[in-house]
Amino acid sequence: MERRNGVRIDIGDLTHRYTAKTPLTFEKVNIKAEPGEALVIIGRSGCGKSTLLHILAGLLEKTSGIVQLDGKDVTEPSSHWIMMFQAPHLFPWMTVEQNVGTGLRFARWPEEKMKKRVAEVINLVHLDEFAQNNTQDLSGGQQQRVALARSLVMEPDLLLLDEPFSALDAFTRATLQKDVRAISKQLGFNLVMVTHDIDEAVIMADRALVMAGSPGEIVHDFKVDLEDPRERQDPEVQAMRANLMEIFHQAAGVPVDSSDEEGDDTSQPDVELVGN
Ligand SMILES: Nc1ncnc2c1ncn2[C@@H]1O[C@H](COP(=O)(O)OP(=O)(O)OP(=O)(O)O)[C@@H](O)[C@H]1O
Ligand SMILES: [Mg+2]
Repeated sequence: MERRNGVRIDIGDLTHRYTAKTPLTFEKVNIKAEPGEALVIIGRSGCGKSTLLHILAGLLEKTSGIVQLDGKDVTEPSSHWIMMFQAPHLFPWMTVEQNVGTGLRFARWPEEKMKKRVAEVINLVHLDEFAQNNTQDLSGGQQQRVALARSLVMEPDLLLLDEPFSALDAFTRATLQKDVRAISKQLGFNLVMVTHDIDEAVIMADRALVMAGSPGEIVHDFKVDLEDPRERQDPEVQAMRANLMEIFHQAAGVPVDSSDEEGDDTSQPDVELVGN
């Protein structure tokens, strides 16, 4: 597959409220990103992360402010920016290959060209041996890989991910985190991802943005300056994680629990930032 250039993201003084009767969801949010950058947004439940992602995807209208990709206003969904959700939403009666080819079939790609592209993407997400299986017979992690392939087949410049791995077991999640980052770097598209999981942010982000408050705002913009590939047990990853954890807890006004600092293996429960 061809390398993309990604997009320049420009979010300026973005403000949102759902209705005239509801309070502001967030106010004057400013985020800029360079082409190919991976941003991870972390924040407590209800601070407006999903709302922000939906506006960036063109799925929800902003109240005021600027949302631009490469200098153009985002006003509607597009195949250049694609959203992946927690549930993969596949067609269970179709094979992996058919699911992955859905977007291309809608776009009326010629059969041979479509087959070639679908095979490339299935290879990219390591599902070659399952290409002819019905997706209902796959594991949760494999299904999420199909959803990823279905997004990648459209060659997006920007992939938006709303807690895409939170329903998966720790091992599957860890593998997917590394693979998605590696693929985004290999193909050159931007990532904007929402998560509750600090480990996930450190493994996947070029920059981690901490969102807090009500109405929500970006209270920290943290450069995750680490080499690839990143392993959870690397001392640099551990140090970055401790750092980000402290920033997060300060921002959220929650004292740091020192037992959180030692969560270095994937068998341990996630550091859940919600409901605690
Ligand atoms: N359709 C809606 N109408 C009115 N209010 C809404 C609607 N959707 C969300 N909200 C409210 O907007 C706020 C932000 O919601 P949002 O889903 O963006 O939060 P979030 O940060 O993604 O939370 P979580 O981490 O739990 O997914 C919440 O207070 C929520 O109750
Ligand atoms: Mg959400």
